[in-house]
Amino acid sequence: MEGPVILCLLWAAGVLGTPATSSEIPTEAHPPPVINFSVSVKNLCTIYWIWSPPEGVNAKCELWYKSHLGEEKMVSKNNFRIEEVALNERICLQVTSQCNVESTNTSDPVEMCIEPPQGDPETAVKRLQCIWHNLSKMNCIWLPGKTAPPDTKYILHYWYNTLEKSLQCTNFYVEGQFNGCSFDLLEKDVSSSDKIQIMVTDTTGAIRPSYNIINLNNVKPDHPILTNLSLQNASLYVEWESPANFRSNCLVYQVEVNNSKSMEHKVHEPKSKCHISETPPEPEGNSKNKHCFVIHDVDPDAPYTVRVRAKASRFCFEDNDLWSAWSQKKHIGQNHDSKIHTITLLFIPVAISISTLLLLLYLKRLKIIIFPPIPDPGKIFKEMFGDQNDDTLQWKKYDIYEKQIKEETDSVVLVENLKRTSQ
Ligand SMILES: *[C@@H]1O[C@H](CO)[C@@H](O)[C@H](O)[C@H]1NC(C)=O
Ligand SMILES: *[C@@H]1O[C@H](CO)[C@@H](O)[C@H](O)[C@H]1NC(C)=O
Ligand SMILES: *[C@@H]1O[C@H](CO)[C@@H](O)[C@H](O)[C@H]1NC(C)=O
Ligand SMILES: *[C@@H]1O[C@H](CO)[C@@H](O)[C@H](O)[C@H]1NC(C)=O
Ligand SMILES: *[C@@H]1O[C@H](CO)[C@@H](O)[C@H](O)[C@H]1NC(C)=O
Ligand SMILES: *[C@@H]1O[C@H](CO)[C@@H](O)[C@H](O)[C@H]1NC(C)=O
Repeated sequence: MEGPVILCLLWAAGVLGTPATSSEIPTEAHPPPVINFSVSVKNLCTIYWIWSPPEGVNAKCELWYKSHLGEEKMVSKNNFRIEEVALNERICLQVTSQCNVESTNTSDPVEMCIEPPQGDPETAVKRLQCIWHNLSKMNCIWLPGKTAPPDTKYILHYWYNTLEKSLQCTNFYVEGQFNGCSFDLLEKDVSSSDKIQIMVTDTTGAIRPSYNIINLNNVKPDHPILTNLSLQNASLYVEWESPANFRSNCLVYQVEVNNSKSMEHKVHEPKSKCHISETPPEPEGNSKNKHCFVIHDVDPDAPYTVRVRAKASRFCFEDNDLWSAWSQKKHIGQNHDSKIHTITLLFIPVAISISTLLLLLYLKRLKIIIFPPIPDPGKIFKEMFGDQNDDTLQWKKYDIYEKQIKEETDSVVLVENLKRTSQ
């Protein structure tokens, strides 16, 4: 007696969801399977399975449908199921009917499938992926299929919830080995739970269409703009503006700081907002996009190089690793290296002028050094006998002088002789 009493109490207390417990209701046989089961595709890959309730069901039977999509099971009173599935493979839904939500006495299953697209799977594009840049542009890239003709002209169709029908992307580009197409997608046009359906095929039907369903978490922001660096009391203040389109708590940042004196390289992840005491608080509209970060106890004599990047935060999007590009770099502090460079740069022309001058002044000497006089064998011969270069000329002069004197003397002697002869 106790069992049913407790059960009734539980039921009264609403603990049991339905009154349909096995022992309460008269034995439920297996209901017949559903009928008129059909499947259709809307948009690019929204699949509608629809069926009708089985006929000839016991009046006491409250019909529920259990549907299996692969491993995914759903029990519902609806006689349809709508799913977004990338139609790259055969996709089948199995439906059974049952007379209460938990019953294991189900009908025979009925299955309805959607066949994969026609064509050689090797021709279909590979690694189709899309990134939502800046919350304003969806960039989708893919690799050509292995056996796709090299001159394939691709077509990309896309669809999301607020579009009546799928649109064709027109802005194609090539990025290394990847082909890509980019289309506008503004944040106001979608809600974060929406998905974007993508289909890539070609103009002639030579390749097999390829489908992808992407969620809106692959967000890559524009890079932040580094606006100011300042050193105050051995603290380094870094200020930047967030990229466009993001609400303030939807981004996280990395601040990279390099000290080129100590060669220290650090990446900071600011956790909280900072305030620069000297700057007066700005009107709400402007300050929203301004951010700053303070690094205390920096070396005021060291040169620092800083840059910042951003990533969509977990608060607004699912975690991803899509960092923005880095901002421009900014430098601050004494840069000894650049001083030395400046000095070197100034010194070089001066040094060149001076050297040129010296070169001109000592050109002769240089000429002698470069083109030494051809040695005179005779001179060397003389030197061997102790003859001194500079004296040779004197000796010669002396010779001539002596000769002249001798000649004069001779002529005097001759005159005297002549005189004597004449006497
Ligand atoms: C399932 O059906 C069988 C008869 O086919 C019946 O004996 C059994 O009690 C039913 N089970 C439930 C939980 O209704
Ligand atoms: C099932 O389809 C047939 C025709 O295809 C139709 O006559 C019948 O009314 C449909 N049954 C239900 C329950 O909708
Ligand atoms: C980012 O979006 C803003 C506003 O929509 C736009 O002005 C800006 O050009 C975009 N940046 C890039 C790199 O597309
Ligand atoms: C940078 O910050 C310093 C200190 O707050 C301030 O004096 C300077 O005017 C700022 N410069 C710019 C360009 O905002
Ligand atoms: C720097 O520190 C000195 C004393 O440590 C203080 O008097 C001064 O107000 C500080 N300046 C700033 C800008 O914080
Ligand atoms: C900091 O140093 C690292 C490693 O040497 C380098 O890759 C990076 O570009 C530097 N960053 C800046 C802001 O100079």
